Amino acid sequence: MCGIVGYFGNRDSVPILINGLKRLEYRGYDSAGLAVIGDDQLHWLKKAGKVSVIESAADDHVLNGTVGIAHTRWATHGEPNDVNAHPHLDQTGNIALIHNGIIENYNVIKQVLEKEGVTFQSETDSEILVQLISKIYYKDGLSFPEAVQAALQEAVGAYGIVVICKDEPDVMVAARHGSPLVLGIGEGEYFIASDASPIVEHTRGVVYLDEGEMVVLQNDGYTISQMKDKKVVTKDISLIEHDLEAIEKGNFPHFMLKEIYDQVNTITDTMRGRLQVEEGNAFLGGLADYIPRIEKAKRCYITACGTSWHAGIIGKYLLEEYAGIPVHVEYASEFRYRRTIVDNETVVIAISQSGETADTLAAIKKAKEQGALTLGICNVVGSSIARNTDCGVYTHAGPEIGVASTKAFTAQVTVLSMLALLLGRKKGLSKQQGIKLAKALAEIGKDVETILSDTYNIEDIAEEHMQVDNFLYLGRGVNFPVALEGALKLKEISYIHAEGYPAAEMKHGPIALIDDNMPVVFIAPHDKTYDKVLSNIQEVYARKARIIILTDKKSKDLEKLSDYIIKIPQCHPRVFPILASIPLQLLAYHLAVLRGCDVDMPRNLAKSVTVE
Ligand code: G6P
Repeated sequence: MCGIVGYFGNRDSVPILINGLKRLEYRGYDSAGLAVIGDDQLHWLKKAGKVSVIESAADDHVLNGTVGIAHTRWATHGEPNDVNAHPHLDQTGNIALIHNGIIENYNVIKQVLEKEGVTFQSETDSEILVQLISKIYYKDGLSFPEAVQAALQEAVGAYGIVVICKDEPDVMVAARHGSPLVLGIGEGEYFIASDASPIVEHTRGVVYLDEGEMVVLQNDGYTISQMKDKKVVTKDISLIEHDLEAIEKGNFPHFMLKEIYDQVNTITDTMRGRLQVEEGNAFLGGLADYIPRIEKAKRCYITACGTSWHAGIIGKYLLEEYAGIPVHVEYASEFRYRRTIVDNETVVIAISQSGETADTLAAIKKAKEQGALTLGICNVVGSSIARNTDCGVYTHAGPEIGVASTKAFTAQVTVLSMLALLLGRKKGLSKQQGIKLAKALAEIGKDVETILSDTYNIEDIAEEHMQVDNFLYLGRGVNFPVALEGALKLKEISYIHAEGYPAAEMKHGPIALIDDNMPVVFIAPHDKTYDKVLSNIQEVYARKARIIILTDKKSKDLEKLSDYIIKIPQCHPRVFPILASIPLQLLAYHLAVLRGCDVDMPRNLAKSVTVE
């Protein structure tokens, strides 16, 4: 949700900033801009549209300087246009600011400033920050960092900001409250960004800013302090773990397709050093010290948003079945605002690819206040959720750039499967049963390879259905969330309306929608729900819908009832959801491509939602 990047060093900042914006574009892409200080002047450029627009515009402008900031926006306050794009400038035109987050009391501050004669240019909440900093800086005679610190004491809401000032060209100030910021430490140069992706090609050494911290970059080094009391803090430098290739498309036309194919390895990577096939068990190092408390928990809440929430529902089925712990799954945005039955005998599991989702972070905060043990399942190392939970497990799926989550989802389900196995074994699951599940998990990589080696059938189905307006996805038991996720993938990237439903529940409503124009995707493995799902397929067949069946074994019945069958390898029923998700990701992908949609940057969406 908005990408911010800053450069402070000796090189020309413009190409570094534009490249950085391209790396961050998945966070928001409705407008972009940059500001640099060169020859004692502040130069800026901002435009509605994607980063490519600002890139071409930058060619026609004299823009150079060794200190600069840049921003790619996901609009909250004010439509995406040139004026509302960042950077925002103060009235004097000397100070430029980029912001990620929402300033909740912006109207109050705006009114005060307007009374004092400040004229605002944009409709954004962000502009009040730069005007406020300017007022304090030019009136109160503070240094530029002091003025930023003082202004932020008045702001309520969430922000990650970077600010520069023409009058103090050798200083850059960044601050974080609710929106992530990473400082990259190079040789005589610094980078500041929303995440490590614009930094990794320049340096691997990073410092993750914590809540309420501010960093001041100067020629002789950097200083991090707490905003509330200006206390200087010393922080360790971490190393970025992934390589540059991990954030590049390679030969794939889209990041999403690359990430779908990455699953041949990522699911196995998630289990590396953790799955113990011979013992029928799993070891999760990040939980080791907390297992006794988790084991004794009376209940568990899983809280998450979007795709991660779907992984959570699969987790519920697994944890209840294997470990016998009651599990409630709740959208983080709902969890945070209602009375939840959470106490010190509750474990709250927060699932998040980015580790930065604002609602999920708020849910964790609330769970902690209520005394729960919090456990994070995150993909991004060092992310806020990873750092704000008591214990956790990284999914290790590698950077996910496509806005629609794919490999992070299957990695989340893999972690939840290992957690269910581990807790199950503590709570009476036999070694034999444990071995069965562990073996099935260990074989997933090979089955993913089989699925991805022949996808022509899925491409045909996409071609056949590219004109339809609606899709229905139906599954039962642990495959009901697979239906939800299949439908979400489709609507996110192809803009076809799709719904996921429990197959048997269809007759209580969605059946009214069924006619010969409605494609219905059934997730129908040969598990104990098979005969029941077959009856549901009959009900849909009788109403002449187009039927696509995703199964692990073809049969005469299925062939008779369906227009298309997608067959995946036979596997353990509890790992079927992981494998079944992959053809559904591909179906959404091919439909979106055929419909000419921007697969990696679907309209209105953003990958990391750092606002409420
Ligand atoms: C956004 C993304 C989704 C993602 C959701 C939760 O809406 O577009 O793909 O599932 O946020 O994100 P998280 O990073 O917390 O998993």
